[in-house]
Amino acid sequence: MSATIIKNGTVVTADLSYKADVRIEGGRITEIGANLTGGTELDATGCYVMPGGIDPHTHLEMPFMGTYSADDFESGTRAALSGGTTMVVDFILPGQGQGLMDAAQMWHNKSGRANCDYSYHMAVTWWGEKVWEGMEDSVKAGITSFKHFMAYKGALMVNDDELFSSFRRVGDLGGLAMVHAENGDVVAELTAKLLAEGNTGPEGHAYSRPPQVEGEATNRAIMIADMAGVPLYVVHVSCEDAHEAIRRARQAGKRVWGEPLIQHLTLDESEYFHPDWDHAARRVMSPPFRNKEHQASLWAGLMSGSLSCVATDHCSFTTEQKRFGVGNFAKIPNGTGGLEDRLPMLWTYGVGTGRLTPNEFVAVTSTNIAKILNLYPKKGAVLVGADADLVVLDPEKEKVISASTQQSAIDYNVFEGQTVKGLPRYVLTRGQVAIDDGAVKTQEGHGQFVGREARPAVNRALSQWKDLTAPRPVVRTGIPATGV
Ligand code: URP
Ligand code: ZN
Ligand code: ZN
Ligand code: ZN
Repeated sequence: MSATIIKNGTVVTADLSYKADVRIEGGRITEIGANLTGGTELDATGCYVMPGGIDPHTHLEMPFMGTYSADDFESGTRAALSGGTTMVVDFILPGQGQGLMDAAQMWHNKSGRANCDYSYHMAVTWWGEKVWEGMEDSVKAGITSFKHFMAYKGALMVNDDELFSSFRRVGDLGGLAMVHAENGDVVAELTAKLLAEGNTGPEGHAYSRPPQVEGEATNRAIMIADMAGVPLYVVHVSCEDAHEAIRRARQAGKRVWGEPLIQHLTLDESEYFHPDWDHAARRVMSPPFRNKEHQASLWAGLMSGSLSCVATDHCSFTTEQKRFGVGNFAKIPNGTGGLEDRLPMLWTYGVGTGRLTPNEFVAVTSTNIAKILNLYPKKGAVLVGADADLVVLDPEKEKVISASTQQSAIDYNVFEGQTVKGLPRYVLTRGQVAIDDGAVKTQEGHGQFVGREARPAVNRALSQWKDLTAPRPVVRTGIPATGV
């Protein structure tokens, strides 16, 4: 078996930085130490050798709002690898009335083209016995996290009774509950009012989803999850209102995690006031971009640990697709891209500004989510035995982000013109070099599905705690005689 050795770099993990070489054989790390020899050498002088990024939130080739997101598993994972992300977790979206495992099969049919490893979350898009049944099959198939949309009324949204039933089921199965937290009823009312008043442009999208709709839904989901006894992961946390609810829950001992996106950390609401309709519509996503105070809150959350993972929610649409919404912002397909840019943007605006240490960077781009999703240490680690999903990051390498040089299939980039400093020299997926100093050497179909075990330690701890504190009848003495 031929070995690869990453030479002369500094290994940076979520908790340590140290000089060492890394030997890779059979797709895994087999040795970490000084002066390793006997294999093909990759020079990492001046570079950091880190666990590859894990993006826990993508929508590749997803049917949504009357179309399909434009990046599929091939272009999406090629974009991921070129930016240092070596694993994506995509959302299976069952249609109304569709069984969960039927939908999973559809996703397996699409993901065979992936260039890097991938896993899935299951979305609970409707509620009934068939879904309840299918959730167990999903867990057995290694899909142990279940996303619920509290928004998109009339399409994907589930109501509170359904949320509570589903959360209890997820808790019983030892899985992770996830939410897209926006109050869909209020959004629908505000949307109708804005359109009736002639607010039809892309800025109307932002007006229809103020931070309060997100704060309210986040708090509601947290309380429902607590009553159901299930850990909760809140996706795309964009504002202080939602962050505050998560921070408070964590301080109270609840098992809740929050995920800000790189877009919300670095772009703000002024994008929606741009005079060019296309510019604004290309940035329409839910939740929308917020003002600078909300951005500061998200950065503070990453720094202090109240927010845990940075994702992209990569759901890209071309300009042509965005134009479905000319004259009615509610018809603009919701979603933005970012897979290729997440690590460079976070390194530049996080580590490059001193908001994050390199170790914290690894934690929020890879290790934390690997632990939350029960992927660690197969993924998210530089340890003997771990998959050799690695990024060799050169902190001096720079580029200007441009749609003309990106891997993503769309015709623009929401980060267009940003200078980023800190780029991959090499990216390895299970030991195979996919990015070689700017050259893309990805291999279609190399990616493998990674199934996950249910009941990680946090679920066991939570169910033990819930059992200890469950309501029990009080055993009483001195019962008065009945019928007196
Ligand atoms: O606007 C967004 N976020 N589109 C993708 C679907 C979702 O809500 O995550
Ligand atoms: Zn079954
Ligand atoms: Zn969402
Ligand atoms: Zn999403």
